[in-house]
Amino acid sequence: MTNAYAVQEAASRSAVQIDAVFLFITVVSLFFFFLVEGLLIYFAIRYRRRKGSEGLATSEVKSNFLLEIVWVIIPSLVVIVFFVYGYMVYRDVTTPAPGSSDIHVIARQFFFEFKHPDGRSEVGELRVPVGKPVKLMMTSRDVIHGLFLPSFRLKQDILPGQYTYLYLQPDREGSYDIFCTEYCGVGHSTMRGKLVVLASGEYAKWAAAGKDAQAALPPSEKGKTLLAKFGCLGCHSTDGTAKVGPTLKGLYGSRVPLEDGRTVEADEGFLKESIVDPGAGIVKGFPNVMPTFKGQLSDDDIAAIIAHIKTLK
Ligand code: CUA
Repeated sequence: MTNAYAVQEAASRSAVQIDAVFLFITVVSLFFFFLVEGLLIYFAIRYRRRKGSEGLATSEVKSNFLLEIVWVIIPSLVVIVFFVYGYMVYRDVTTPAPGSSDIHVIARQFFFEFKHPDGRSEVGELRVPVGKPVKLMMTSRDVIHGLFLPSFRLKQDILPGQYTYLYLQPDREGSYDIFCTEYCGVGHSTMRGKLVVLASGEYAKWAAAGKDAQAALPPSEKGKTLLAKFGCLGCHSTDGTAKVGPTLKGLYGSRVPLEDGRTVEADEGFLKESIVDPGAGIVKGFPNVMPTFKGQLSDDDIAAIIAHIKTLK
């Protein structure tokens, strides 16, 4: 289903349909562009003012009824065809397929959280089985975000306080980019995700394993998965580079200068405070943009995250 004329491969049937509309409009527009510009240049040369004829009057053409009818009717028909064809594909793309799995998408600064119907949730990655239609029900916890799936030719804004929807039919296995397409703050460029389309057997295996794998992990390993799951790594690196927020590498036990002039030691208390009440102590040089994770992370989860931060030396 790769289209030679499309920059991005088409991952679904609707993507192919959308490409076809786009190609059709482009080809028809190019035809009329060259027709009109060609005639313009031809007439300009054919009827140019020649030497010796400067004094002659222009012939007096008033109007040509037939010609005027033709150039009103033809373009009107062309744009009506654009509209009808485009509308048919638009209707197809925005009509939910029967039997789709409903996935809640919650956008926050600066990550996407995906909630499956059975209660499992993922951050940054959405796994779906191939061939089964998906309905995304999307809302934002803070500002306006967007969800863009270039390979599916689908894009929709995500708004706080209301739901917007996208329907997709993942026809091909593979991993596809998700981008945020509204400038939502300093971490906008890091707000990305992946749509992973799995063979149905593989998906069932993942769905079965995903449920209680976390409980069995040692705390620092669990903390590592939580950092990924809650999108922390979108803003905090673990390799020493500063992103939207300070790096977590070597953070534990270090002396941290704060915006309010204090210098504190990054002990358990400070790390916990920074997770549940991030505004209480902003590290010098960083913006106050982190959302609170109070109520989303249990005390056990926070302890696990701190245990993992301690290992990042
Ligand atoms: Cu979210 Cu840009």
